[in-house]
Amino acid sequence: MTLLKPVSAERLPDLLKRMPKAELHMHIEGSLEPELMFALAARNGLSVPYADVQALRRAYVFGNLQEFLDVYHEGTLVLCTEQDFYDMAWAYLQRAAADHVLHTEIFFDTQTHTGHGVSADVVINGLHRACLDAQGQLGVSASLILCFLRHLSEAEAFEALEQATPHLDKLVGVGLASSELGHPPEKFTRVFANARVLGLHLVAHAGEEGPPAYIWSALDALKVERIDHGVQAMKDPALVERLAKDQIPLTVCPLSNLKLRVFPTLATHNLGQMLDAGLVATVNSDDPAYFGGYINENFTQTFAALQLGAQHGYQLASNSFEASFIDKTAKLALQHRLDEFFETFE
Ligand code: ADE
Ligand code: ZN
Repeated sequence: MTLLKPVSAERLPDLLKRMPKAELHMHIEGSLEPELMFALAARNGLSVPYADVQALRRAYVFGNLQEFLDVYHEGTLVLCTEQDFYDMAWAYLQRAAADHVLHTEIFFDTQTHTGHGVSADVVINGLHRACLDAQGQLGVSASLILCFLRHLSEAEAFEALEQATPHLDKLVGVGLASSELGHPPEKFTRVFANARVLGLHLVAHAGEEGPPAYIWSALDALKVERIDHGVQAMKDPALVERLAKDQIPLTVCPLSNLKLRVFPTLATHNLGQMLDAGLVATVNSDDPAYFGGYINENFTQTFAALQLGAQHGYQLASNSFEASFIDKTAKLALQHRLDEFFETFE
């Protein structure tokens, strides 16, 4: 990598904002802003159980992951039509483009929506159309990762995979999300094996609230290529060694960890220690409408709290391209844009 010119503390936020980057951990349902939630509810003849946008935002205070998931699930009830899914994804993609995201791999799930009568076809077709438009109109490449909900059964995950199979060409991978504690990855070993046979990439949330053992089993039982969150890995030196040796990327979400009380403050977050340990960490927004910021907010707030510098910014952006599921040629092109940006930044 190129030798970086010094960047002053005052210029660092601007560098982080304008730096080319990829986002690899963002749940599209978690990008649904209160304004759009109310608009979609009105369009569909539904109501939101809060007086207005401000009242809804005030409710976004969470003690842990489960408290968040309960509120998040309520928000998904306004999503009914293919156009709703398109509009939600398009709003996120415009925000991502403004944050200089050049590539994004978007998490979504179908089980939440089929659970209240919306078909997987409606969900996938709406999201996919937005991804196509992002490439054409925003110059952002976007792909989709179907997450299974780990609090539901293996049989239900198989059903979700089967419903998504006619849309395989619209998916880049599968993931595992929802309530982590009490739902270890190995419950889904057979589902992930089937997804792998279908040619899909594999990722899983592990070590967000759950123990390092869940990261081990995501790697060894599910055979995932990336770990989502993974911050609890730092409690297990043998696991850190494994993640570093195999260069397994970790999609870290600092503001999410703060809002869900995984860390009491951003200043106590372990992102800097992960980078020091040689881990392929990346910075992501998780559920930006709920956690107080999109990817650039995650960068700027975390860098300020941990006193990270331009070199860390370069490393994290470079990791985001390296950890993505785009082909080698596209990776090289993005890496080149990153190098060029750092060489010419004033
Ligand atoms: N679904 C949406 N956000 C999530 C998170 N942070 N952890 C697990 N599942 C999620
Ligand atoms: Zn997540």
